[in-house]
Formats: sequence, C-alpha cells, structure tokens
Amino acid sequence: MSFPKHFLWGTSVSAAQYEGAWNEGGKSPVLLDYATSGSPQKSYRTLHYLDENGNCQEKDFMITCHIPKGAKLVTFDDLHYTNHRAGDFYHRYKEDIALMKEMGFTTFNTSISWARIYPNGSEGGLNQEGVAFYRDVFTECRNAGIDPVITLYKYDEPIYFDLKYGGWSNRKMIDEFVLFATTCFKEYKDLVNKWITFNELNMLLASTINSVAGSDPSMNQERYEEVHNQMVAAARAVKKAHEINPDNKVGCMICGVCIYPLTCDPLDIMEAYRSFQDEFCYCADTMIRGEYPSFSTRVWKEKNVHLRISEEDKKDLKEGCADFLAFSYYMSFCKTTHKDDLMEGKGNVFQGAKNPYLQVSDWGWAVDPVGLKYFLHFLYDRYQKPLFDVENGLGAYDVISEDGRIHDAYRINYLRSHIQCMKEAVEEGVDLFGYTTWAGFDLVSASTGQMAKRYGFIYVDMDDEGNGDFHRLRKDSFYWYKKVIETNGEELD
Ligand code: BG6
Repeated sequence: MSFPKHFLWGTSVSAAQYEGAWNEGGKSPVLLDYATSGSPQKSYRTLHYLDENGNCQEKDFMITCHIPKGAKLVTFDDLHYTNHRAGDFYHRYKEDIALMKEMGFTTFNTSISWARIYPNGSEGGLNQEGVAFYRDVFTECRNAGIDPVITLYKYDEPIYFDLKYGGWSNRKMIDEFVLFATTCFKEYKDLVNKWITFNELNMLLASTINSVAGSDPSMNQERYEEVHNQMVAAARAVKKAHEINPDNKVGCMICGVCIYPLTCDPLDIMEAYRSFQDEFCYCADTMIRGEYPSFSTRVWKEKNVHLRISEEDKKDLKEGCADFLAFSYYMSFCKTTHKDDLMEGKGNVFQGAKNPYLQVSDWGWAVDPVGLKYFLHFLYDRYQKPLFDVENGLGAYDVISEDGRIHDAYRINYLRSHIQCMKEAVEEGVDLFGYTTWAGFDLVSASTGQMAKRYGFIYVDMDDEGNGDFHRLRKDSFYWYKKVIETNGEELD
C-alpha cells in the first residue's frame, strides 16, 4: 500500500463557514456576520455598516480587515448574509456526522468558534452553552470512529476584540488567545488530541504582497506585528497543549500555493524563490524551526517594518515549535519580472501570473495536481516534519439533474488527480499522515461568500439568496470518495 496504514481520511469545514446559528447559543457576532457575498467577477465580499452620521456605507471585505473607524455594525433587512445560517451544522451535526461515518471518515477537521466560547473575551467569561455544543459534536465524532482534528482560530474572533484592543497588533490578544486555547485543551482533553492553532496564518501577509485585494504598503507595519503576535500566541499554545496532555499533537497551518517562475530568465527564478520565502516560509520556518529565517531581515527592510521581538518571544518561539505542518493547497501561480507576460492568475488571496499550461476552475483558480506533489516534496525536504494536507478541493457550480442527482465528475477528476500525485509523493518518501478535502459539505465561500461555489460530496440545499431547506443530498463524488477511503487510496477510478 502507498498510504500508511493509519492514514487519516476525511474532510474539513470551518465554524464560520458551515455552522450558522450566528446569534444563537450565546455566540457573539464576528466581522464575517456583517459581510455580504461577492462573485467570481468580484471575488471579495462587502461589509455594510453605518458611519458616524448614520449613513449606510460599503467597504470591500477581506477576512483580514478591521471595523472601519467610527462604524456601527448593523444588519440590513434588505441584504442577505450567507454566513448567518451557513450550512446549518449547528442544528444538523448529528445527521452530518452520520453521513461522514457512512463514507468511512477516520478524521474530521473543523474549527471552534472563539465567539461561542468567550463571546466577550476573558472579561465576559466562559459561555457554557458553547462549550457544551462542541463537547456534543466531538463526542458524536468519537462515537462514529472519527478522530477530530480541531482548528482553534479561523476567521472568527469576537468583534469585541476589535473594539477593545483594535485587533492582533495589540499584544493583549496573545493572552486572550492562550486563555481560549487552554480552555479548549482542558475541556476536550478526553476527546481531541490533534490541534491546529491558526488557519493559514500567512494570509495576513497578503496585503503586504501582490494579492487579490491589491497591496497596501501603509498596512505593512501593522500586518507584520499581527503575524508576529499570532506566531507567539501559537507557540505559547503549543507549550500549554503539551503540558495539559502529553499526547497532544499541535500543528501550524499555512495557505499553500505552489509558485513557479514564468520563464527560465534567472530573474524570474529568483522572483519565484523569493515569493516562496515571503509568502510561505516566513511563517512556516518560524513556527516549525522556532526562529525567524535568515531572509527575514531582507523582508523587514524591503517592507520598512520594525519589529520588537523580546527575548521572551524568542524563547517561546523556540520552545513552542509545531509538531506538524498542515497546509491548504488549491492552485499554483507563476512569478515573473517580465511585465508584458504578467497575466492575472486568480486565487484565494495570493496572486501571480497565469500559467499557460494549466486549466482553471470556474473561479479562475489554476488546477495543478503536479504542483501539489512538488509542494509536498518542497515542504518535507525543508522541514522533515509530518505533513497534513488539510484543505484541497474544487469549488464548482453543481446542477441537480433530471434524475434528481448531482453528477460531479469534474470534482472527482480534480480530487483523483491530486490524490494520485499525493500518493506518488508518499511513495517517494514524504511523511504525509492525513488528507481532508475542502469541503465535504457545501458551505459559504471564504473569498466570495457564495453558497453557489460548491465544494461538497454532499449537497446542502441553500442558495445565495437564502432559498432552500438545508436538506442534504449525496453527490456522485460521495460514493467515489467512500471507495477511496475503503481502499486506503488504492482505488481511485
Ligand atoms: C482556504 C480557506 O484558503 O480556502 C477556506 O482556509 C476557504 O476557509 C478555502 O473556504 C477555499 O476558498 P473559497 O474562497 O473558495 O471559499
């Protein structure tokens, strides 16, 4: 067999994108709750709010943005907010976990909404209803033979933190996060022993680089401070997790994009290599090796960033190295210094030149399974730590056929080609211990806020305007992935 015997197979979702129940169970609002949907043409979402004079305003929304100065966040009756009910996992988790069991999942990655556990930070105290909800979910998973892998931070800190501290550039956030993480490690000690601290921590750097939302050099100092504080918070959480339960394995997680030079011009080769360093390794090196990489001084100089890194921070980073490296992988890009060759290659946040050899999805993302193999080798060669591919999948428009079914051969083809390449990387020595597709159930897209961008093996009956009753429907890919799991990845046809 190519994949190890106890290889973890499953899927990944997130609380903010799948749970719904945005104002139930004691949860406080998060910024995403005020964002409406975008589209493939306009990939980002829109934040609607009242300004100081009570006038309605709009602002492009990226998951890294803050509340505009003086804004009052309210919901407008004539707008639809897909996140509010999302995929309704909050009310349907038992049915969903039964479907996962039917497919033979051995793992399931989701996140805990911080706003459900500490709706108003340490000041407001612990929300027992939120704690009980996740206990029920994880117990249900265990009863179904599913080993949950839980992400602590994924786009949903309570708005309270933005108002009180102004966000992650304030070091108070480190203490708040460590409290939240410690609570989770203690509360779910008997149910969860695989954790991921921050989802795609490097995404914070998008606005400092060429990204889908453009770049904004005036944010550089703040963004690098935020990244630093999150990495210190992650390291302290790793230490706590090990103290509380020596069996805990805690990973860091990075938005992975494979980057190629567009031409063999040495300047393009250098450009691509530096992009790997800046967009990916800057964070992964620090969290896996426990210290900033040597090229960081170049990055700080180029971005005009001055970080204050205390001796205590350095110690924490060193002592709190992640046990494994989790990553998402959807697409690849090219980099070039030839401006004439620079075409628009779309992606979740990072951006580059379009690769003429690759097809793209309906949302313009390049489909590149070989890039996954390349990326796996790159990661394992560099870090020699166990890897976990925690997100990979195809967002597509699905149509219910006349026979009442969804024939998503395009999704099967995408996943098959990526699993095949992953398999080859494992056969060539890469230590990969799990694969969770994004996302087993249709949910709200992070970049566009659409439900119409469907990723699931299981259709969720809800559209972008709020029509639907959330019933679940097995797509063709459901039966295909079930067989993949049954044969531990041997049978991919
Ligand atoms: C990853 C995120 O970057 O991409 C997910 O961690 C996200 O939350 C996924 O959903 C796919 O992106 P999108 O924009 O299609 O939802």
